[in-house]
Amino acid sequence: MSFPKKSIQDPFKPWKFFVFPTITIKPTYSFPFLLKLIIALFAFASIFCPLFYFAFPSRADGYFSCSHCDKSLRIFGHQKITIGDDVSGTPNYEKTNLSHIVFGISSSVEKWNNRCHYNELWWRPNITRGFVWLDKKPLENESWPETSPPYRISADTSRFKYTCSYGSRSALRIARIVKETFELGMDNVRWFVMGDDDTVFFLKNLVMVLQKYDHNQMYYIGANSESVEQDVIHSYTMAYGGGGFAISYPLAAELVTILDGCIDRYASSYGSDQKVDGCMREIGVTLTKELGFHQIDIRGNPYGLLAAHPLAPLVSLHHLDYVESIFPGMDQIDSLKRLINAYQVDPGRTLQRSFCYDLNRNWSVSVSWGYTVQLYPSLVTAKELDTTLLTFQTWRTWKNEPFVFNTRPMSQDPCQKPVLFFLESVENVGENRSLTRYRRNIEKVECNGPEYAPLLATEFLNVSASTLNPKIWKMAPRRQCCDVINGGKGDFQVKIRSCNPFESVTPP
Ligand SMILES: *[C@@H]1O[C@H](CO)[C@@H](O)[C@H](O)[C@H]1NC(C)=O
Ligand SMILES: *[C@@H]1O[C@H](CO)[C@@H](O)[C@H](O)[C@H]1NC(C)=O
Ligand SMILES: *[C@@H]1O[C@H](CO)[C@@H](O)[C@H](O)[C@H]1NC(C)=O
Ligand SMILES: *[C@@H]1O[C@H](CO)[C@@H](O)[C@H](O)[C@H]1NC(C)=O
Ligand SMILES: *[C@@H]1O[C@H](CO)[C@@H](O)[C@H](O)[C@H]1NC(C)=O
Ligand SMILES: *[C@@H]1O[C@H](CO)[C@@H](O)[C@H](O)[C@H]1NC(C)=O
Repeated sequence: MSFPKKSIQDPFKPWKFFVFPTITIKPTYSFPFLLKLIIALFAFASIFCPLFYFAFPSRADGYFSCSHCDKSLRIFGHQKITIGDDVSGTPNYEKTNLSHIVFGISSSVEKWNNRCHYNELWWRPNITRGFVWLDKKPLENESWPETSPPYRISADTSRFKYTCSYGSRSALRIARIVKETFELGMDNVRWFVMGDDDTVFFLKNLVMVLQKYDHNQMYYIGANSESVEQDVIHSYTMAYGGGGFAISYPLAAELVTILDGCIDRYASSYGSDQKVDGCMREIGVTLTKELGFHQIDIRGNPYGLLAAHPLAPLVSLHHLDYVESIFPGMDQIDSLKRLINAYQVDPGRTLQRSFCYDLNRNWSVSVSWGYTVQLYPSLVTAKELDTTLLTFQTWRTWKNEPFVFNTRPMSQDPCQKPVLFFLESVENVGENRSLTRYRRNIEKVECNGPEYAPLLATEFLNVSASTLNPKIWKMAPRRQCCDVINGGKGDFQVKIRSCNPFESVTPP
């Protein structure tokens, strides 16, 4: 493992920075210069000695007598390093990859049998690192599936307080997963990623997102709930556990020293994620929001939410047992497998949108790559296309609002609705290109209006796109553009591409 040039491992580097110039002093330097130098050295010592003192408070004994000494030094080094040199912002360590992540999945013996199929969609045995944390040992006579992550049994939490009347004490155990995982002392860990047993992670995108951040700094990365009622009750500014969240190594190292105290101090908080968030407030680290983590605190049909995915890599989906299947006429696991087929061909493009107009027919097209295409028999503004179709309700009260984003109604009138197409197949064509094929969803009632007739005559629709270059996630976010390629009757093709200068989705 390599580190930035300024050597995060070496806590004394800041000293070298100051000492080095003295070596190069030529004998011709005057007395006043030497005097200034001595004063500078004294000033330096008086500033930095207290820092050393504060960097090693009483619990530092623990750091120095434990087997993680190198890690605590590294943390110390990391904090110093940010004072000094690197202003270029380009980190100098090897890119983060999957091996740097350790997962902590919360479950229980009772739940695992029904939830492991979600896990198996993304877990890669012997490649992904981490554990499922259970409340007790699985039954002796039942073998643990090879396709599941290895399990660990959480430590007893009966000594902790829990006073939330509508919650479950299991929140205590789950809150401590990050600590119990950290204390395993695994090698070469940059990120601890927490998730539930019904969280589906999209690993390549998770890695792509974490690569944007310097793991030597203290990061807490995730997203909040889609339902305002949830955010009001729990928090707007915490990472919701089901959507999953990532904690960088140095932050985890600080978190675990105070976590047990937080669990008691935030005894009235409902969830494990809130107890972790309590600690984050004490440390003073705020949530870095990444829009690809999805708690899915909604009920009903998640279509609108997924079809309006923000301009960010899809990192996780959650609560999939509580919403309708994402593809019509399929169960949820098969639906997810279909989405994952597309994801495997072009991870970064999964659910990414493009809008374009077919000006020969005055149609509007909205592609959510790898999932769905919406066709409208009119020129709909980009602002409307961009707004989430309300096909779902809120998590707690099953109401139509409010959400943390704007919505537009999905009309019951078939002559006011877009015609929906769903992913049918995906293939690689040529180097770095994909062809996705979408099939029209036949609905019970369809519009008889003349403008809908040609839309309803279209059964299939092909979308071609180049593999999305992950570099775009480090640039200013911009939706990609598309063209409708007219191939005659019933044959609809769309080509996604990056936009040209001064190009916009503007009706004539
Ligand atoms: C991940 O990065 C480490 C360096 O920390 C490197 O040794 C390892 O080969 C990388 N693994 C993969 C799969 O690229
Ligand atoms: C994982 O590794 C172990 C030991 O190296 C091996 O026995 C097992 O078959 C592997 N599992 C899978 C699913 O590859
Ligand atoms: C394991 O034993 C329990 C009772 O001890 C029983 O209910 C369960 O069906 C058994 N499972 C298998 C796979 O035999
Ligand atoms: C498309 O709409 C424009 C103006 O809104 C109209 O002038 C044109 O005739 C329409 N074209 C078709 C093919 O309907
Ligand atoms: C395809 O992608 C790979 C990796 O991103 C790149 O090295 C290669 O040049 C690309 N090929 C074409 C034809 O663009
Ligand atoms: C659309 O895709 C299907 C399957 O991938 C392919 O057989 C068909 O030829 C494509 N149509 C066009 C017009 O490219």
